[in-house]
Amino acid sequence: MSLNTTDLEAVRAGARERLGHTTTVEAVEELRQHLLGRSGELTTLLKGLGSAAPEERPELGRLANEVRTEVEDAIGERLAALRDAALDDRLEAEALDMSAPGRPMPVGHLHPVMTLMRDLREIFHAYGFEVFEGPEIETEEYNFELLNIPADHPARDLWDTLYVAEPGTAGTDQGRPAEDGTILRTHTSPTQIRAMRALEPPIRVLTPGRCFRYEAVDASHGFEFFQVEGLVVDRDTSLADLKGLLEEVARALYGRDVETRFRPGYYPFTEPSVAFDIGCLVCGGEGCAACGRSGWMTILGAGMVHPTVLRAGGYDPDEFQGYAFGMGPDRMTMLRHGIGDIRLFFSADRRFLDQFPDGR
Ligand code: DAH
Repeated sequence: MSLNTTDLEAVRAGARERLGHTTTVEAVEELRQHLLGRSGELTTLLKGLGSAAPEERPELGRLANEVRTEVEDAIGERLAALRDAALDDRLEAEALDMSAPGRPMPVGHLHPVMTLMRDLREIFHAYGFEVFEGPEIETEEYNFELLNIPADHPARDLWDTLYVAEPGTAGTDQGRPAEDGTILRTHTSPTQIRAMRALEPPIRVLTPGRCFRYEAVDASHGFEFFQVEGLVVDRDTSLADLKGLLEEVARALYGRDVETRFRPGYYPFTEPSVAFDIGCLVCGGEGCAACGRSGWMTILGAGMVHPTVLRAGGYDPDEFQGYAFGMGPDRMTMLRHGIGDIRLFFSADRRFLDQFPDGR
């Protein structure tokens, strides 16, 4: 078939039209093969140049070259445009918005017992108390003797003690308590002696800390628990000061309307000794299972520091007096939230802990 102008113009127009409809690089490559490949439309036409009439040949040759160049250029431009567009799309898809807020990181929160102890620290801080900490591993001397509890005194039975074993005998049949009397403290009261020996009066200290007892664990007894001890030593302290202070603390913690009462108690290291109760927060004082039908709950023991204990601390009881108290923050936290089982505190169960997102 011989080459003619009409066919060339038709290929030129067709190529432009079909190029305009391509939307992918692959489609353009396919079209390039279709037009310019070895047996492509335009290639086939150009092969017919030789059989054209000699006088038409120069003009036809010029036009054929023009069409081929134009088609090649158009294909190149279309490819470039499609590649640009694809890049734009990718850039948009992968765009990083530097102003977007970050993903929130989960942060933990305080254990409700820790929160209560911090609240106590805040409250007592307002009354001039500073924190004075003591060791969790104590000696029988500090835990008992210096607190007016001699070795053979029946009051020792009040504290079921975990003894630290003599080196080499732990876990064996011969396991026996360490000769130097090392134990796990059963209460924070030994810190009273340490504070009196370390500080100068007037003393106003608060001792939060972990305590340990050889307990049969149940809903209201843990073998590991917390106490917050308080001690005041000065020249002119009285039971009235102690009562006024504790009533204010109860109001700060449980609200202005909380009912309070003092009962006589017994502790070897205080004389007189009292127990401090608050009106049951579960039943409002009516009497329920939580308060043993009494309408009251004991949250601490307290009293005037025994003269023997003052002497052990290095003071003359005729010159200095003091009062002390020992609070049970686990119990106090149970009251605060109406928690029925002390074992939940150490269960590390997120379903329990997550109920106190701000520690309260
Ligand atoms: N240490 C006592 C206990 O564990 C609590 C206590 C009672 C502490 C009276 C005191 C106090 O400081 O004066 O049972």
